[in-house]
Amino acid sequence: MKKIGIIGAMELEVEALKAKMDIRRKEEKASMEFLEGTLNETEVVIVRSGIGKVNAALCTQILCDLFDVSHIINTGVAGSLKNEINIGDIVVSTDALHHDVDVRIFGYPLGEVPQVGCLAFPADEHLGQLAQSCCNEVNPDISVYQGRIVSGDQFISEKKLKDKIAENFQGFCVEMEGASIAHAAYLNHVPFVIIRAISDKADDSAEMDYPSFERAAAAHSAALVEHMLPFI
Ligand code: ADE
Repeated sequence: MKKIGIIGAMELEVEALKAKMDIRRKEEKASMEFLEGTLNETEVVIVRSGIGKVNAALCTQILCDLFDVSHIINTGVAGSLKNEINIGDIVVSTDALHHDVDVRIFGYPLGEVPQVGCLAFPADEHLGQLAQSCCNEVNPDISVYQGRIVSGDQFISEKKLKDKIAENFQGFCVEMEGASIAHAAYLNHVPFVIIRAISDKADDSAEMDYPSFERAAAAHSAALVEHMLPFI
């Protein structure tokens, strides 16, 4: 059966979706509240994971083990790593990696977790294409990009660090959960996609921009997820 796990790190990334769903069951696990029910005529489990990679990985594993989800979508905000990707635009993952992993000393490429077998976790192509086409319908004024999303347990707000991450990994945007969701989904053989709307440019302007734009950006991403659901 099709059942979509929807993860947002923060409440404002999932609150609109929660408000619209018909809730059948609430379950608390690992201090996270999992809401199971229907949204846009689709079976869903919606959850706020909390911020950062450990919370995101835990949450994804619980969705797989206890809720038996068939697909996972991560919705939220991110900092742009490319000049042409602006605040309000949307990035849909082609793949995701951990920008803060470094085991080069033993021969692994920067970003690769030893013994997992890949540097970047590939997102599901159907989900990616669906996100792109739905975005053109739902948010026609917003530019949507398909590309790599990179994650680390760090809020990036310095141009020097941003440029280094962009150069090392060819990422389109940076955030703090996507790679862990991708990693856990990959190990569980569950198709996933990460959808992130840009809240800041991950440089010295990020501290100012993030609080101003996070709410609108989170809403763009959530609206797109809602529209995708019946077509998965
Ligand atoms: N989420 C939104 N903006 C971000 C940034 N600049 N760094 C990390 N995570 C983010």
